[in-house]
Amino acid sequence: MHSLFDIEGKKAIVTGGTRGLGYSMAEGLMEAGCEVAIVGTSDKVYEVADEFCKKGFRCHGVKADLGKREQVYRAFADCMEALGDLDILVNAHGIQRRCSSEAFPMQDWDDVINVNLNSVFILCQEAAKVMLKKGYGKIINIASMISFFGGQTIPAYAAAKGGVAQVTKCMSNDLMARGINVNAIAPGYMATKMNEALLDPENPRYQEITNRIPAKRWGSGEDMKGTCIFLASHASDYLGGAVIPVDGGYLVK
Ligand SMILES: NC(=O)c1ccc[n+]([C@@H]2O[C@H](COP(=O)([O-])OP(=O)(O)OC[C@H]3O[C@@H](n4cnc5c(N)ncnc54)[C@H](O)[C@@H]3O)[C@@H](O)[C@H]2O)c1
Repeated sequence: MHSLFDIEGKKAIVTGGTRGLGYSMAEGLMEAGCEVAIVGTSDKVYEVADEFCKKGFRCHGVKADLGKREQVYRAFADCMEALGDLDILVNAHGIQRRCSSEAFPMQDWDDVINVNLNSVFILCQEAAKVMLKKGYGKIINIASMISFFGGQTIPAYAAAKGGVAQVTKCMSNDLMARGINVNAIAPGYMATKMNEALLDPENPRYQEITNRIPAKRWGSGEDMKGTCIFLASHASDYLGGAVIPVDGGYLVK
């Protein structure tokens, strides 16, 4: 019987799949029966893919620096070669650089915009070309609370994540009638390596953030799995251009 959330046998690319939120979403998709190509910057991507295969999942590792444009195209082609087809794209890679806005180095600006925004658009474009041929596909971008707020000391990240939300909306408008759903998840404060600097309980900002989260705890990769599977499945067929907070209630407090 057709199940709304059934994604058994679907083929997915998950960038940033070697750790953090990307790792968990890749794992969630595989637990739901998908074959997944994960993309990461170092040889660790092969180790992680091997570990997943040893658990009985179908996983491929593709190494690439998504901050370099030619490598973005190459990574996508390598994923397609490994998978043979594509139903789901999850853009879950990203970097953070912190410095007060007036002194923010332009090299950091370029790095963050290239990794967090330019590569996301290219991967969405490449995925859309494949998905349009069969009139079906699910694109899931990872936005941020910083798609809604400005943040502090992170101007490039704010520009990139605002951009990810806007690209998600525009691509949804362009593609929805042709069978492709483009949506985003905006994680709240998640305990991953990206937030190492904030995760010190002695840091006043840690206390400030934790006190504002109605769930009273930071999120984890596990918390991303359900929304990811929803957006990857027929259950979200009428959802387009949404930026869904998965944030323990932080945004609306
Ligand atoms: N952790 C949070 O609180 C939080 C909140 C909102 C949004 N996000 C977003 O979620 C996504 C995942 O973040 P995370 O918390 O898991 O961080 P993380 O640092 O644990 O993981 C980031 C991943 O991106 C990959 N990556 C970084 N630069 C890359 C590059 N140049 N090429 C290819 N891959 C690259 C890394 O290898 C890693 O797998 C990012 O887009 C991040 O901006 C995270």
